[in-house]
Parts: sequence; C-alpha cells; structure tokens
Amino acid sequence: MVLNILKRVSFLKGMSGKEIRHILAIARERRCKAGEIIFLKEAIGNNFFIVKSGRVKIFTSVGTEKKKTFAFLKKGDFFGEMSLLGGKVRSASAQAVEPTELLVISRRNFKELILKNADFTLKLMHMLVKRLHSANQDVESMLFHNILGRLAEAILGLSKDKHSSPIKIAINQNELAQYMGTTRVPVCRAINTLKRSRVIDYKRGQLIVLNAARLKSIAGAG
Ligand code: CMP
Repeated sequence: MVLNILKRVSFLKGMSGKEIRHILAIARERRCKAGEIIFLKEAIGNNFFIVKSGRVKIFTSVGTEKKKTFAFLKKGDFFGEMSLLGGKVRSASAQAVEPTELLVISRRNFKELILKNADFTLKLMHMLVKRLHSANQDVESMLFHNILGRLAEAILGLSKDKHSSPIKIAINQNELAQYMGTTRVPVCRAINTLKRSRVIDYKRGQLIVLNAARLKSIAGAG
C-alpha cells in the first residue's frame, strides 16, 4: 500500500520496488494531529521526512505577526533535507495542517541513501532545483509584481497539483496572505477584484479558478 503510494505519487516515482522497499525498511512512522508542530525553525535537524498522507505546511515567522508560508506539502513530498545536507538547523518550521502520517528517516540512514543510491540522489536534486526555481519566482514576484499579479501567481502555484476542472483550492484568506508573505486586507481586496472580473470565485474558504488563461496573463503582467 505505502509502496504503491510512493511508486505512484512521490518524488521517488520511477524507482524500483526493491529500492523503495529499502527506503521503507529504514524508515519509522510518525502520526501527527491537525495543527501539530513537527519541528520549529532553528531546531537541530536530525531526520528527513516523506509525507505518507495528509498535508504539511512549511513556514517561517518573524515576530508574532509576520508569517510566510513557503509551501504546502502533500502525499509523496519530502522535507527536512536542508539541515541534514549542511544547514544543521532547520531553515523553516513544519506543521501538520490536517491529520498526517510521515515516514521518518534518520540523519545516518539519509546520508547512506544519498551515498549509495544514485537514483534517490538524482531525484532529490531534481526536486531541490524545482524548489529553488519556485523560490526565485517568489522573490521576483515580491519585488516586481503588484498585489494582483502576486495573487494570480500564488493561485497558479497552489493549482499546480490539482487536476479537477474547474480547479478548486481549499484555503482561507489568512493562509493565502501568509503564502504570499503579506497581510489579509490587501489580499481580500485583490480577491474581490479577481472575483468581479470573473477570473476566480471565492466562497467559504474555497477558491475556484474560472478563467485560467486570464489568471496566467495577470500573473505575467502583474
Ligand atoms: P530543513 O531546513 O531541514 O527544515 C525545514 C524544511 O523545509 C527544509 O529542510 C526543506 O525541506 C523545507 N523547505 C524550506 N524551504 C522550502 C521551500 N521554499 N519550498 C519547499 N520546502 C521548503
């Protein structure tokens, strides 16, 4: 069952059953309740995690008010590699957004995987490059785009793994503001602008993309 999940949806897609079974053999499981903090920024990193089920938020906070969500991770995604690869302490905090099951791999086993399994290492690097690319886009968006363009880009980012038509995203306005690294009021105004022009609909914590082409053009022009 877990083998199938990892084979199908995770960054390990394409690895042989034998290799994935080895990863499962060296991992232990951790169950988290909704809202549970998995680790905090600046803590010493000792483990690497793969999400078996549920959803994990990666975020940072400055003071008590300012929060920035870097990513929402889902089944098959990984996290916790940065401190094991050099940073030592956690570069961000991780929290289970809903009941979540994790596969936990110790620092020693993670290093052994990297050294002995070139396929695993390449897949890890591939994901790190994707994350760097998305972080660069985030910086560009924050520096050069207006709030409407940033909102459009954030919605496109959150839509990436959704396959429903129309695309539906369950997210409240606070979460969306934190994902964009800003506050709720300007985001609320920008949502209303996109709603008025029928680019999106937003009701009771659910955002629906009505016009994806227009959204892309706003993200590009913002
Ligand atoms: P680490 O620094 O050990 O702990 C925090 C983890 O959050 C980090 O490893 C990465 O796995 C993950 N992380 C940090 N920044 C991002 C990002 N921009 N996108 C996705 N995951 C991230």
